[in-house]
Amino acid sequence: MTTPDIIADLVIHGGTIVSPDTEYKASIAIKGGTILAIGGRTAMPKAVDYLDATGLHILPGAIDVHVHFRDPGYPQKEDFASGTAAAAFGGVTTVFDMPNTLPAISDAKSLADKHAIASAKAHVDYGLYAVLGEDSLANVDELIEGGIIGFKLYMGNTFGRIPSPTTGAMLEAFEIVAPTGKRISLHAETNSIMERREARLRQMGRTDPLAHLAARPAVVATEAVARAAILAEWTGARIHVLHISSAAELRPLAEAKARGVDITGETCPQYLLLSSDDYEAMRGVIRVNPPVREAENQDPIWRALVDGTIDMIATDHAPHAPEEKTREDIWTVDCGFPGVETQMPLMLTEIARRKASLSDYVRWSAENPAKAWGLFPKKGTLMVGSDADIAIVDTDLQWTINDAAIQSRAKISPWHGMKATALPVHTIVRGRFAMKDRRLQDDARGWGRSVHAIQAMPPAELRNTDQTMAAVTSPRRSSVA
Ligand code: NCD
Ligand code: ZN
Repeated sequence: MTTPDIIADLVIHGGTIVSPDTEYKASIAIKGGTILAIGGRTAMPKAVDYLDATGLHILPGAIDVHVHFRDPGYPQKEDFASGTAAAAFGGVTTVFDMPNTLPAISDAKSLADKHAIASAKAHVDYGLYAVLGEDSLANVDELIEGGIIGFKLYMGNTFGRIPSPTTGAMLEAFEIVAPTGKRISLHAETNSIMERREARLRQMGRTDPLAHLAARPAVVATEAVARAAILAEWTGARIHVLHISSAAELRPLAEAKARGVDITGETCPQYLLLSSDDYEAMRGVIRVNPPVREAENQDPIWRALVDGTIDMIATDHAPHAPEEKTREDIWTVDCGFPGVETQMPLMLTEIARRKASLSDYVRWSAENPAKAWGLFPKKGTLMVGSDADIAIVDTDLQWTINDAAIQSRAKISPWHGMKATALPVHTIVRGRFAMKDRRLQDDARGWGRSVHAIQAMPPAELRNTDQTMAAVTSPRRSSVA
């Protein structure tokens, strides 16, 4: 044969590749940022560089669809450089950044400014969310034009105090976004329930950590998921339920799926590994929205991941400075904590403990997020032609999480002191090392790119289009002639 000699940029030998359905020993060749070949050692082309991954597992880099990198606005908590460095250390090669920055991302100008920040600082690839609220309804087209991965709708108040739309505005928002095919990610907690309860608890003088949970019982999230699912079914909008925290949310989620609603769901390590028993010791550090709940929620959430009712693992990486997490009065403690860096070690430890497979993990961390946002098979899988987004992981290493050693600026988390049995050793983003031998590769700063350009969402199945706000108020319809 006369095939010209192709020289790869990098060939990785000796590792075990994890795919969504199996594991196999193979070499991987990378060229121009994509995967050129996968196969036996002798079938690989020559390369400029080689990496020995003997004894290590090779996973598609994780896609964390829920991080808060705080840039612009809160540099004491995080910025795009520190946040994406944390991602690289966690084996995460793509993040979707939330819009509750200062300013919030709700129009073309704020979005363009964030794109400039992110493209200058990012160590890993990213997508940017925009707020879908009463004030940004009119900006949907300019936001999509400006390059977003999807919309974020806050059904309840959380950090940043982005006002939650009324159900009426939410229905109209779904009507407007549905034809665009973009997915709407929901902070599904019903504001009026928790505000009322918080006010009463504060009135009676409660300031202890568990008062936070008392203000936000599972019904707060469950009612929101059910209501959002009804609006999504009515309009044909695509939705994603962020941070599923309770067993009770699983019924409306499963029912909506069974009825053909394009609904996906994520949970986070905190809802599997922490419980209400930890509030006393952790105090404000554990405060997060939705709250960490009673331990009996953990097993049903785990089973829902295994059976596919919950599609994926994200982190809600929500860094705050130590002084913002250690105030005595729980109501004054900022909500959230970092997680993008520790998700993979903690989840791989958990799958070992619960006897799930690495393939299960790869579905939850990479394949399913890529599919839900139209990035598959460019992202989320290791196949010839896919982006070379790779986490190379030691799955047999005992270590202890130490907040002082994390990349995130927020050196305070509930994970401090936890034992893990896995650790990403190298992280590759489109063929380039973002982290190598547990060292940040500084020349990779600014290598990260927005993934919106490769997003391809299938057309949505619209419903009740003759009854939308736009349809019933169009001049033709409302005229009596
Ligand atoms: C998040 C934050 O700090 O931005 N906080 C949190 O408790 N989860 C906001 C959010 O995702 O709700
Ligand atoms: Zn949220």
